[in-house]
Amino acid sequence: MSLWHEFLTNQNRTIWKWTHYLPIYERHFSRFINKSFIFLEIGVFNGGSLQMWKRYFGPFVTIVGIDINPKCKKFEESQIHIRIGDQSDPVFLQSIIDEFGLPDIVLDDGSHIQKHVNATYNFLYEKLNINSVYFIEDLGCAYIAYWGGRLNKKDTFIERCKNFINSFYLEHEISTESTESISVYDSIIALEKKAPNVVGQSSIV
Ligand SMILES: C[S@@+](CC[C@H](N)C(=O)[O-])C[C@H]1O[C@@H](n2cnc3c(N)ncnc32)[C@H](O)[C@@H]1O
Repeated sequence: MSLWHEFLTNQNRTIWKWTHYLPIYERHFSRFINKSFIFLEIGVFNGGSLQMWKRYFGPFVTIVGIDINPKCKKFEESQIHIRIGDQSDPVFLQSIIDEFGLPDIVLDDGSHIQKHVNATYNFLYEKLNINSVYFIEDLGCAYIAYWGGRLNKKDTFIERCKNFINSFYLEHEISTESTESISVYDSIIALEKKAPNVVGQSSIV
C-alpha cells in the first residue's frame, strides 16, 4: 500500500502533511516496510501521522511520538508510544533512547523553531546507527523570523546544511563523516547515514 493511498483514503485522525512530502518519504522509507525498527516522530499534533506510519510500515515497527503538549498522550495505541517533553531538552531525548533504543528513522516535525531543530539534531544525529535516516520537515521556517529564521542567517538549519555540503568535499568533519547523502527537497532535508569513511589504498596485481 503506497503512502499516497494511505494519505488519500485516511479515515482516522488528521494527518498534517504537505502532499508533495509523500513520494519523498517513500524514496527514503520504503526499505523499512515490514522490518522491525524504531521510528521517532517529533510532533504528534492529532496523532494521524503516527497511525499512517503504522499502516505503512506494518506490524513490526515501534513508533514513538514525542510532543510538548500533554494532550497528545491520548493518541497512544498498539505499536504507538507517546512521550511528553520538549524536543530541545537533551535529558528528555536521552530518556527516549533509554526506553526504546536508538531510532532508525527520526522525523522532526515539531516546533520548527530553528534553535529547537538544531538542538534535537545536535543531540541525536551523531548517536544514530549506520543506515539511519534523519528527516527535518517544513524547513521553509528557516527563512521566517517567527521560527528564528531569515535568509542567510548563520544559525538556521539550512545554513548548517550548506556547511555540511562544504565539509563533504573539504576535509571530512565529524558531522558529515558518517553521512552518506544530504537530500534537499522543497521544505524537507533528509540525511542518510553510513559507516564512516576509511582511508585506504587498493593495488592492482
Ligand atoms: C506540525 S505539528 C505535528 C504534525 C504531525 N506530525 C502530523 O504530521 O500530523 C507540530 C507539533 O509539534 C509540537 N511541538 C511544538 N513545540 C514542541 C517542542 N518544543 N517539543 C516537542 N513538540 C513540540 C506541537 O505541540 C504540535 O503538536
